[in-house]
Amino acid sequence: MKRYFCYMLIGCTFLVTILSFNFLESQGLKDVSSFPIGTAINFDQLKADAKLKKIQIENFNSITAENDMKMYSVKPNEKEYNWDKVDQMIAYAQRNKQRVFGHTLVWHSGTPDWVKEKGRKDTLWLDNFLKEYIFDYVGRYKGKVDGWDVVNEGLETKGGDYRKTLWYDVLGKNYIYKAFRYAHQADPSAKLFYNDFNIERDTLKLRGLLNMVKELKSENVPISGIGFQMHIRMDIPDEVIEYTLKMAAETGLLIHLSEVDIIFNEHDDTRNGGIQNFNELTEEMKIAQAKKYESLVNIYKKVVPKEQQYGITFWDFTDRDTWIKRFFKIKDWPCLFDENLETKPAYYAFKKALQN
Ligand code: G3I
Repeated sequence: MKRYFCYMLIGCTFLVTILSFNFLESQGLKDVSSFPIGTAINFDQLKADAKLKKIQIENFNSITAENDMKMYSVKPNEKEYNWDKVDQMIAYAQRNKQRVFGHTLVWHSGTPDWVKEKGRKDTLWLDNFLKEYIFDYVGRYKGKVDGWDVVNEGLETKGGDYRKTLWYDVLGKNYIYKAFRYAHQADPSAKLFYNDFNIERDTLKLRGLLNMVKELKSENVPISGIGFQMHIRMDIPDEVIEYTLKMAAETGLLIHLSEVDIIFNEHDDTRNGGIQNFNELTEEMKIAQAKKYESLVNIYKKVVPKEQQYGITFWDFTDRDTWIKRFFKIKDWPCLFDENLETKPAYYAFKKALQN
């Protein structure tokens, strides 16, 4: 009888373990996270690829258009807006209960040539265009887009100076103030972010950012958050990331890790500027990357207070589709899913850190 009871107990324990393992396996990243987990997508590609779509729906509850919501996509010429893809993407997000994040209103690389040409010649026109564009765009999606990258990459690649772009050259730093104010007027409940890269590693650039935030706040500019793009490399020290995130969190603003990926190789931040140090992805590299992803979540949870955790968003989620390869012209493996859209150790480590 005693032996029979023992067998029963072992059997039950085994069953519970299997069931809970399956249950955890069947849960996506979003299901185990206390903050939203997002991904950038290319909507046409997502629509056409059933496997990609399944992964996206299972794992993510926030969505950012990789390119379809940029100015060059939405306003390709002076005569018309191109809302079609944005509408489709928002409908998709609503069907799948995902938050929509708007990327991006004002960005030098997102500005179409026709705006650059006209804007350089006519200050007043550019000033009016900025207002009209933001009112039309943010107003149209009022209540549907949760947050916006209002200004993207307004600081130089290195150091803390304002980036010399069409917007800055013609309107001065005021374009930043105006963009936030217009966006807030168009949708007072939308969360408004300033988004940039390398601020997790370049402390001079971070200082420039924090000064700018201080100025914006002292002028009552309605900024709600800071986006750390977080395109990082394996050798960016965790201590530096922890320090910079902590400094940013001290502003009291929301913190969004808005474009996360982790590469092995190097680049010089310019198109085609990749430096191919690693040609192959080894098992050791996969494990090291998993640890880096795990640390990133742990740091975010440790130094960003819960109420400021806007979420973590990946910039593409497969090694097959990553922008890194196209943009820097190198081979790399920065994502949670591999070239065949299968999970990598990084996926499980990231998930485990979310759960803990
Ligand atoms: O649509 C054309 C296509 O018709 C053509 O065949 C192809 C040939 O190169 O180009 C296609 O357009 C490209 C587009 O991506 C879609 O793939 C553009 O040339 C290319 O410039 C564009 O690059 C995007 C880049 O932003 C510039 O908008 C990347 O996909 C996108 O990942 C990247 O995203 C940025 C964030 O917005 C801001 N932070 C940095 C991040 C990475 O650079």
